[in-house]
This record gives sequence, structure tokens and C-alpha cells, in this order.
Amino acid sequence: MSASATQLDNQAQLLARLAQARSATDDLFRRVRTDALYDRPIAERHRIVFYIGHLDAFDWNLIAGHALGLGPADTEFDRLFAFGIDPLGDGLPQDQPSDWPPLAQIESYAHRVRKVLDDLLNGRSRVAESDWQFPRDVILNVAIEHRLMHAETLTYMLHQLSPERKMVPHDYVSVNSHRTGSRAISWMIDVPEGTATLGIPRDGEAFGWDNEFEEYSVRVPAFAIGPHKVTNAEFLRFVRGGGYDDQSFWSDVDWAWIKAHNVSHPHLWLARQDQWFYRAMFEEIPLPLDWPVYVSHAEASAYARFVGGSLPTEAQFHRAAYGTQEGTEQAYPWGDELPDATRGNFDFQHWDPVAVGSTPGGRSAFGLEDAVGNGWEWTSTPFAPLPGFEPFPFYSGYSADFFDGKHFVVKGASSRTAACMARRSFRNWFQPHYPYIYASFRCVQN
Ligand SMILES: [Fe+2]
Repeated sequence: MSASATQLDNQAQLLARLAQARSATDDLFRRVRTDALYDRPIAERHRIVFYIGHLDAFDWNLIAGHALGLGPADTEFDRLFAFGIDPLGDGLPQDQPSDWPPLAQIESYAHRVRKVLDDLLNGRSRVAESDWQFPRDVILNVAIEHRLMHAETLTYMLHQLSPERKMVPHDYVSVNSHRTGSRAISWMIDVPEGTATLGIPRDGEAFGWDNEFEEYSVRVPAFAIGPHKVTNAEFLRFVRGGGYDDQSFWSDVDWAWIKAHNVSHPHLWLARQDQWFYRAMFEEIPLPLDWPVYVSHAEASAYARFVGGSLPTEAQFHRAAYGTQEGTEQAYPWGDELPDATRGNFDFQHWDPVAVGSTPGGRSAFGLEDAVGNGWEWTSTPFAPLPGFEPFPFYSGYSADFFDGKHFVVKGASSRTAACMARRSFRNWFQPHYPYIYASFRCVQN
């Protein structure tokens, strides 16, 4: 195949992936009852309807605006729907549903933008290769992954809606039947000293976000790590053992946070008549003891102190998940084969977690289960640039706005993370008191 044929093939693939990502987010909005679209399920974030406009406004501003230097699609909407809210900002948003345009206007804007963008990208409008001010592949990957990231963040936002505000998918299978017995694992895996490679080289072919560059090798001393993510059963011992009432397990800021917000158990747990229940995406079920517990960084850190351990650093996670006894490193925990459903609970197969260790095909060389999938994993590493970091010129704040010491790196993937982001170099980050994300953890001993 000639170089240009390969290039065209690659472009066709990117356009197919963009179409697929659009249908994923379109379907997500159909999970919300129409009368709930102007709800705000998370107080610190925008109303749901904002995101209907945002995904296409972002694509327009990125592709037509930054990359091709074209004028606005709609002066007002391009700007109104340009940016989400950083939950660390001052105060909570005060806007009312009536401050937002009617749904029909937002949907018509989104359709129009897609149509014009598709004409530009499919060559129906005249765009010369030289019109692209940034590499077309990179721009399209940014648009696709931005949308897929929202497919995840929107899901945990919709998770907060009460069940009667949501539409259950026709192929939904109750997760009540997914539960098996409790699973508590006391042993740890010994990981010998070795090298962990973070990031990717800038001169490689692979797409990555700005924070994934450049490649950076770290020597990691020997440590021990839990083979499984901490389960609800294990975390229940912390709750019953008075973990939320003992200040010695908490840092001063984390203690102040749980007291100020009356945090006394994981966010998705419900206490009812002396029994624990769990708010799954579409139903409430008895607490699934063998699922990974989803908690904030503050709660994960407190639990780690409770068991006399700590959270892994980003480099320790890499070493345990991607390293081998022989000292080599693999592209994925299971080896170099591309991700599929046998490797872990990611890529929208399930709405909720599954029992830990349910996908042995994803086990790492050192024996880590679910290192990618079934919940992101908190690390103790504050989000910071790798050596050689350069912000994307067309999206300068994507990572750099969060290099503030107030966010921690999470690694791996959740059940609602697209397979393309299951790559080793992908880094996600959240602030330590944001309870809504699908983040689990495991402990290490140094
Ligand atoms: Fe966004």
C-alpha cells in the first residue's frame, strides 16, 4: 500500500471512530428523561443540557477554529458551550434552567455543526492539506478522546440522578445477579526493584495527550502490592472498625473535609435498617461485597493507613502492572495484544463494576488483577508534568491548569473508559475530595 493510501485508510478509521464516539454520547443523553435534561446532578458541575451543546461546540472550536482558522458556527453558542467547570473553582454555579436555551435550539446547533464538520473532514468542502495548522491526526484524536472522556464523566454524573429520572437501556441486565460472596485477600505480591517507564517518546507514531510526553524511566525499589483492588467487603471492616471516627488515619485536610461534609461511608453506599445497600447505575442492590470499592483519594489514603500501608506511586503502579520478572515492560498488563473484553471491565461492556479478579485474561506478569478496568486506581502521586512536557498549542490548559498540587494521578480504567484510553501512558487526575468518579485503589507496602 502506498504512503498516501495508508494515510487515507488512517483518516477513514479516525472518521469512523468519531462517528462511533458520537453515537456513544448520543445514546447516553437518551438515558435521561427529557424532563430531567435541565437537572444538575452534581452541584459543582453544569446542568446536563450544557453537555449536549458542549461536545459539538468543542469539536467546532478545535477543528474549524484552532486547526482550520475558520470563523464561528454560532457566535453565541460556540462560546456558551465552550468550557466545563473546574470543581475547584470558587463557589457553586448559580444559574437557573431558564438561563439556558431551549433544547431544540441546542440540538439544532449540534446537528448543524456536525454537518459542516463532516463536510470539511470528508472532503466535500474544499480544505487543502496545508490549511491544517496542526496535524490532522492529532486534532481528530483529541476530538474523539475528548468526547469519549465525556462519555465517562457524563455517566458518573447521570449515576447521581435518581432512578426515576433515567431510562434503562433495553439490553440492561440486572447487576444483582452479578454478586458472589465476599472476597478478602490478605496476601501481597512482592515486586523486585526494577525500571518503570512512564510516558511516550515525542518522536513516536502514537497519539497521546500533552501530559503523556515525554518518555521517562524511573528506578523503583522493591515493594509489595495487593493483587486485587480493595473490595467493598474489605472497606466495610474499616467502616465498622470506626475508620471514619479516628483522626489518626486522616491527614488534617482530609479530616476537615469528612467532618465538614459528614462523610461516613463510600459515596455509593446506602445505610438502611442496619443493612448496607449500593446505588448501581440503574438500581439499588444489597452491597456487592466482592466489587472494588469506589472512594475518594482521601478515603483510599485513610484505609491504606488503617492497614499499615499506603497508596502506590504512579511509578509503582507502572512497575507492578507493566513490568516483568525478566525486567522488560509490556504495552498492557497482559502483554502486547490490543485490549478486548477478556482483558478487563472497560470499553462500556458494563455500567457498573464486576467482582474483582473476574477477567484473569488481563492479569499482569506480576499477578495484578484488573490493573486496567473495573475502576481507575488512585496513586499517591500529585499530577505534574513529565520531563519534556509541552502543552498542546491548541488546548494549552488541558493539563497545565491542573499542575497545582491539588490533583492526584489515577491509572488504569473504569468500566466506562473507552478501550483507546487503556494505553499504558494514559494519565487521568482528580482532586482528592471529588467523590463521584469511578476510582478504586489497592495498597502497597514499602
Ligand atoms: Fe469538555
